[in-house]
Amino acid sequence: MISTKTLIMVSLLGVMVASGCAVSQSYKEEELGLRKVDLYSEKTVVAEPTSYSTVAAGESKVIQRSFENAPPMIPHDVEGMLDMTKENNACTGCHLPEVAEAVKATPIPKSHFFDMRTQKVLTEMSQARYNCSACHAPQSANEPLVKNEFQPEYRKQNGAQRSNLLDTLNEGVK
Ligand code: HEC
Ligand code: HEC
Repeated sequence: MISTKTLIMVSLLGVMVASGCAVSQSYKEEELGLRKVDLYSEKTVVAEPTSYSTVAAGESKVIQRSFENAPPMIPHDVEGMLDMTKENNACTGCHLPEVAEAVKATPIPKSHFFDMRTQKVLTEMSQARYNCSACHAPQSANEPLVKNEFQPEYRKQNGAQRSNLLDTLNEGVK
């Protein structure tokens, strides 16, 4: 059994250590946020301008996939293409498998010709994939404010350049 006296001594010691060790460090307002300006004023806040690719489709360099089977991001200019309507989808005009090879575009993969609900292969592209830019987006060339330490691991040698989701879809699911 620990005596009451010892207990009091130990806790007193604890309090002394805790208060003695507390480092009194303070930060200026300008150091707190990621934007490094006074947090109480918007006056000097200027967001970095977005700068999307202006390189025409066919002349851009594809961007490495973020991780295995991540949707690829759009490396080329999309000026005039994103007012996508029921009647007009510029993306399919170049990316449907039957035309992709001729224009050297990556063909729309098998997974987009598959109905995820009924698990059936479709003869036409799934309507759920019609709005390409819901998943594939143009990228703005800005430096991230916080460095991303994520390291992707691709199981296939070309995993950073191509996808194979439909072949691996239910992997590990019984
Ligand atoms: C005029 C033909 C054309 C049109 C229209 C077009 N693309 Fe492309 N796209 C290409 C080509 C060609 C590439 C390969 C890179 C290059 O050569 O610029 C490409 C690359 C891509 C990539 C990267 C593929 C990869 O393997 O990393 C994505 C994603 C993409 N396009 C999506 C779209 C979307 C979404 C639209 C509609 C908003 C669209 N594209 C419209 C021709 C086109
Ligand atoms: C619901 C999200 C979603 C939509 C909508 C979608 N995609 Fe994808 N796309 C993906 C994902 C995720 C991948 C990577 C995994 C895979 O193969 O399915 C992909 C892969 C691709 C690839 C790369 C194929 C390869 O062999 O590496 C192309 C090209 C592509 N999509 C084009 C399109 C185009 C064009 C549209 C519109 C007509 C579209 N996608 C609509 C999610 C989407």
